Amino acid sequence: MSSREQFSSKTGFVMAAAGSAIGLGNIWGFPTQTASNGGAAFVVVYFSMALFLAYPALMAELIIGRYARANMVTALRLISPGAASKAIATGVGFTGVIIASLILSFYAIVAGWMVAFLLESITSTIGLDSVSSWLTTFSFERNMIFMALFMTLTMSIVASGVEGGIEKWSTRLMPMLIVILISLIIYVTTQEGASEGLEIYLVPDFSQINPALIIDAMGQAFFSLSLGVGTMLIYGSYLGKDESLPKLGAAVTLIDASIAFTAGLLIIPAIYVAKYNGAEVFSDSGLLIAGPDLIFQVLPSLFSSMGSAGLLVAFAFFSLMTIASLTSSISMLEVPVALAAEETSSGRVKATIVIGSIVFGISSIILVNFELLFDFVINLTTVYSQPLLGVMLCIFAGWVWHRNTLLKEIQSGHPDIEKSLFWKIWPHYVRFVCPVLILAAFIQSVVA
Ligand code: PHE
Repeated sequence: MSSREQFSSKTGFVMAAAGSAIGLGNIWGFPTQTASNGGAAFVVVYFSMALFLAYPALMAELIIGRYARANMVTALRLISPGAASKAIATGVGFTGVIIASLILSFYAIVAGWMVAFLLESITSTIGLDSVSSWLTTFSFERNMIFMALFMTLTMSIVASGVEGGIEKWSTRLMPMLIVILISLIIYVTTQEGASEGLEIYLVPDFSQINPALIIDAMGQAFFSLSLGVGTMLIYGSYLGKDESLPKLGAAVTLIDASIAFTAGLLIIPAIYVAKYNGAEVFSDSGLLIAGPDLIFQVLPSLFSSMGSAGLLVAFAFFSLMTIASLTSSISMLEVPVALAAEETSSGRVKATIVIGSIVFGISSIILVNFELLFDFVINLTTVYSQPLLGVMLCIFAGWVWHRNTLLKEIQSGHPDIEKSLFWKIWPHYVRFVCPVLILAAFIQSVVA
C-alpha cells in the first residue's frame, strides 16, 4: 500500500477541522437563530448542545476515522464484525457521502453569492455601476457563473491534496478570517444603534426556551461541527497516532463555538445599526429578517449608508463569508473524493474532477428548479439527515465496534487517558445518552 496522506502537524489538523466547522453556519446561521430565539438564552442552550451532544458525536467520528485510516464507507465496514453490520455500514457510509455532496451542492450556490457581492464591492469602488447591479441582482446566469467559480476554487484546493491543499489553505485562511471578524466587530460596535443589538444578544430571555428552541440549537450544533456526513471522520483519518483525540476534538469544539459566539457580536449589532439608519429589519409579521435578505439586502444597505468606508466594510464582510465558506466546502468535497480515490485507485486529481463535476451538475439542477429544490435540499440534508446519521455513527462507535479496539484507539496518543473523566464517561455516553437524546429531539421536531 502506498503511504497515506496525513496532516503535517496538530496545528494543521486543528486549522483544517476548525475551518470545516466554521462556515456560514457560524457567521450567518448562529447569530440569526440567536436573534430570533431569545438572545443569550439560545446561546446557553447552544453551548450545552455543543458540549453534551455534538462533542461526543465528533469524538465518535474522529476515533473511527483515525483507527480505520479510510473513507467513511470503508471505515464503518472495518469496525463492523458481521455480515449484517457490514451491510448496514455500507448503507450508512454511502448515505453520508451522498449527503455531504448534497450539502456542497447548495453551499456552493450560497457561497457563489458571497463571491459576487465581494466583487461588487470592487466594481462599485471603480464606478462600474451596471456590472455592480448585475452582480447583486438574482439571476440564473449570475448564480451559475459564481457557483461554477466557487466550485472550481474548491476543487483546485482539494486536488492539491491533504497537506498541500486542505491544510495549506486552511492554515492561511483561518487567521485571516479571525482578523477580519475582529476588525469588523470593532468598527460596527462603535456605530450608533449597535448597543441595542448587543443588549438583545447578551441579555437572556429564558422564558423563550422551549422544545423547538432546543431542537434548533441541536441542529445548529450538528451542522456547525460538520457532523454525520463523514467530514470529521475523514479529517480524523489523516491524523497521526500520537495525537490525543479527546484534546484535539475539544479544541475544535471550543474554537467553533467561540467563533459562532463572536460572529454574533458582529451580525446582531450590525442589524441594529441598520435599523438605526432606517433599514427595514423586521418582516411584516414582526420577525427579524434572518434569511438571505439579511445578508444580501439589509447588510448591503447598511454598508452603502456608511459612505466610502462602507465599500471597505462590504469588501471585508464578503471576504469573511467567502473564506468561511471555502474552508468548509473543501471538507465537504473531500468526503466523496477520498472514497472515489481510495476505492477506484484513480488518483486524487481525477477523482476531484469527476466528483466536482457531478456536484456541479446537481447544483445546476437546483438552480434550474430553484423554488422547488433549494429549501428542500437544505432541509433534507441538514434538518433530517445530519442528526440521523449522527445517531448511526454513535451506534457504530458504541455498539457495533468491539469495545477493546475502540478503547485502545482512544489510548493511542493519550496513554494516561484511563485516569481521565473522558474515559469514564464517553464510552457509555456515546452508547446510550447520545442516540437517545438525538432521536428524542429529532422525533419531537418531526412530530411537532
Ligand atoms: N460546519 C459548516 C458550517 O458551519 C457546514 C458543514 C456541514 C461543513 C457539513 C461540512 C459538513 O457552515
